[in-house]
Amino acid sequence: MTQAEIQAKILQLADKKNALILAHNYQRDEIQEIAHITGDSLGLSIEAARTSKDVIVFCGVHFMAESAALLSPQKTVLLPRHDAGCPMADMVTPAELRKMKARYPQAVVVTYVNSSAAVKAESDICCTSSNAINVVRSLNCDEVLLVPDRNLGRYIARHVDKVCHVWEGYCPTHERLQVRDIETARRAHPDAVFIAHPECSPEILERADHICSTSGMYEYVANSSAATFIIGTEMGILHRLRTQNPHKKFIMPSKALICPNMKLTSLEDLLHCLETMRPRVTVAPETAEKARRALDRMLAVPRD
Ligand code: 13P
Ligand code: SF4
Repeated sequence: MTQAEIQAKILQLADKKNALILAHNYQRDEIQEIAHITGDSLGLSIEAARTSKDVIVFCGVHFMAESAALLSPQKTVLLPRHDAGCPMADMVTPAELRKMKARYPQAVVVTYVNSSAAVKAESDICCTSSNAINVVRSLNCDEVLLVPDRNLGRYIARHVDKVCHVWEGYCPTHERLQVRDIETARRAHPDAVFIAHPECSPEILERADHICSTSGMYEYVANSSAATFIIGTEMGILHRLRTQNPHKKFIMPSKALICPNMKLTSLEDLLHCLETMRPRVTVAPETAEKARRALDRMLAVPRD
């Protein structure tokens, strides 16, 4: 079968199974092309909760499908590749987090959505890269524990008036971006605007003109009068940036900005998943109840 034939078959099957296909902004182009909705991790889970479809096929990584399952417990949530994980989410376990909580008993635990449901269940509130500062500012406390991303944690710490304890996790993909990559890209494109995801290291964020989540990047580029942008995040974001802004130019400062987990899902995997209705992602009810509380608290924080 050609790529177009597989894509057509996937869409037919999705229709037959009453399934909604969601794709994260970092997925392969050919997956993004046929997804019913593309977006960031939280936005997609909210879409999953909103839809009247019975089945959600989440083309992304495990924690994202788990968040969809938490927010839509009555739906069937499928993750085409069971081995698509997030190394940063794996850098904290519930037992390790409990130990850290014992060290800082006064601190409110704010956990990035890039975490397992079991870790969310140990947390007071969740945040995403787009609402993290707002979430922490909304808390009536003096001390927070920011888990698991040290880069997002330090970025938040610079913008809030609270004592911040930062977990030492990180995204291996974003950490690969080096200061010399930015300096080289800036020299080659002196008029370009550099936009970076808060998962980049502090030395990179210091050099950014704008810091935002993946969805924030689409909005920023659409509203900017600049012609050229240096992109400080995973290269999958280029697909929609280019289709939505055909007259703007996008520069990847490093070839290393590829998340191997996000690239695992192929069209064949997606087709197979719809044919077999596997692998399914579920969360044990006791964990789900506590984890959902942390997500719901985040969703109740007003957006700015
Ligand atoms: P977003 O929440 O911006 O989609 O980011 C998710 C992610 O995995 C970033 O590396
Ligand atoms: Fe995890 Fe980084 Fe991949 Fe995002 S880009 S899924 S944080 S490893």
